[in-house]
Amino acid sequence: MTSSDSSVRDEYIHGVAPDEQRRLATMNALINPMCLDALHVEPGQRVLDVGSGLGVFTREIAQRVGPTGYVLGVERDPAQLAYAAGDVASPTSPGWIEFRQGDATKLPLKSVEIASFDVAHCRFLLEHVRHPGAIVSEMAAAVRPGGRLVLADDDHDLMRLWPAFPEFDEVWRAYTRAYEHIGADPGIGRKLTTLLVNAGCVPTRMEVINFGGCAGEARFPLLVENLIGVVQSARERMDELDLCSAQKTNRVLTDLHDWAAQPDAVIWYVICLAEGRRPD
Ligand SMILES: C[S@@+](CC[C@H](N)C(=O)[O-])C[C@H]1O[C@@H](n2cnc3c(N)ncnc32)[C@H](O)[C@@H]1O
Repeated sequence: MTSSDSSVRDEYIHGVAPDEQRRLATMNALINPMCLDALHVEPGQRVLDVGSGLGVFTREIAQRVGPTGYVLGVERDPAQLAYAAGDVASPTSPGWIEFRQGDATKLPLKSVEIASFDVAHCRFLLEHVRHPGAIVSEMAAAVRPGGRLVLADDDHDLMRLWPAFPEFDEVWRAYTRAYEHIGADPGIGRKLTTLLVNAGCVPTRMEVINFGGCAGEARFPLLVENLIGVVQSARERMDELDLCSAQKTNRVLTDLHDWAAQPDAVIWYVICLAEGRRPD
């Protein structure tokens, strides 16, 4: 299998087990307020959220666009959609939100919806796919002329722990190599602007959203648990590919708790965000 084989379905390295869904929901609670502010959506706008996962962020976008707006989440996996549907069924769910099953490389849009969105957004999707350019092109076609594309994703090389924890760095490298083995790109964050340009958009903004923290912050234990969770959910793949033994990974993840108990422990990490505009 090669990364250019377009007939192969992308593998989502973290899977959709209930523990992983809980991790994703907690992570959403940690970062969504910052991500929502950075998205710059306004009341009345039509927003497309691609690779919407549990739909937690999609729903928060819907709260911001309000009843005169509309938000469509597109997600491939039925288990994630079922979670999102459970939320939509709640009486507090906005009526102007919809989820649709589909692949981001061929968005399930009706012909009247093409070129109709004000904003197309994706977060933590492009790092998981073989053909990110195909997805960004679909997103560019979905927005109206002058509409905005906002891409937010990881650049795994930017992860730094201090005080130094070299064994964790080795496990993190093995984790990122697992991405490469399945044809995904752990360094997609730095390439987001290139993806926009290649899709015919004019880049208008780049920024980083803090995905780190230090000991003493209330959110720090949750950031540590998120770090453990992302590696845990990819552990089987890392083991299969012989990138790092399960025994070593387990030990290092356990030791991460001791590392995090140091009064000066810091996770330096960011979400990369790039914005572009479809030309008029
Ligand atoms: C890390 S989750 C992020 C979910 C959400 N965007 C968030 O930030 O909370 C990535 C999601 O992308 C979905 N996904 C991966 N490849 C996809 C594709 N080709 N088309 C649609 N969804 C995809 C996965 O099923 C998963 O739910």
